[in-house]
Amino acid sequence: MPGPLNGVEIIEFLPELDSTNRLAKEYMRAGQVEGKVVQTGYQYQGRGQQGTTWLVERDQNLTFSVVLRPSFLASTDLFQLNQVAALAVSDTLAAYFPVNEIRIKWPNDILVRGKKICGILIETQLEGSRLSGAVAGIGLNVNQAGFPDNLRFPPTSMKIALGDTFDLHILLRILLDNLWARYAQLSFHREKIQKDYLALLYGLHMPVWAEVAGKKGLGVIRGVDHYGRLRMDWQGAACTFDLKEVRLFPPIHDTSSI
Ligand code: BTN
Repeated sequence: MPGPLNGVEIIEFLPELDSTNRLAKEYMRAGQVEGKVVQTGYQYQGRGQQGTTWLVERDQNLTFSVVLRPSFLASTDLFQLNQVAALAVSDTLAAYFPVNEIRIKWPNDILVRGKKICGILIETQLEGSRLSGAVAGIGLNVNQAGFPDNLRFPPTSMKIALGDTFDLHILLRILLDNLWARYAQLSFHREKIQKDYLALLYGLHMPVWAEVAGKKGLGVIRGVDHYGRLRMDWQGAACTFDLKEVRLFPPIHDTSSI
């Protein structure tokens, strides 16, 4: 199995921590080489996409961040790191679920049976036009048996979906191996990343509930461009949206307000 391209994998486990992304970014800024993994049992200030928080129960889930040095990527390639992380998680889940139950909800949420099982937050450092550093933060819901009911997207965990309890050490090992394998594809088989990502993209060529500029309706996702923007047929036009412009809803949800 491939490891980090330019470093050695070192896993640091801290029983609790504000945010693994925060600490991994500190290491990245201090010149840490690729392969450092910061894992915790409990995050009290976990960060999510678009300034949201990520809060899960103590010692039940996988919560970690990986320092990368993707200087072979241009800043405009940033979305490919999101694809790599999303595919690494999907590859891991594919050992436990049929592939048709796993979807990537644009840009990088992982769904199982239409519910969110994993969130990913990539943060980067630029040097000129290159990505000199990145932190890939992954929160995978594993053994947590229940979640608050006020989350933006309905959550699930491996425990809820499969009824079993899973060894977090084994899962982390598999996930990191998958991450290094997908990361290597960025150098050698970049087209495969886009192909595999599209094959798992939630709502591709199908009607999905979405909200654009405060208006809800059905859109049909057509793909993503190189910069990670969503291509979607919306209100009779072929549109391209960035993250702040569109919100996607679960396959089955309360449509009474639509
Ligand atoms: C999201 O879906 O909003 C992204 C959630 C990302 C959560 C992970 S948990 C490990 C890492 N550390 C953080 O503070 N956030 C990410």
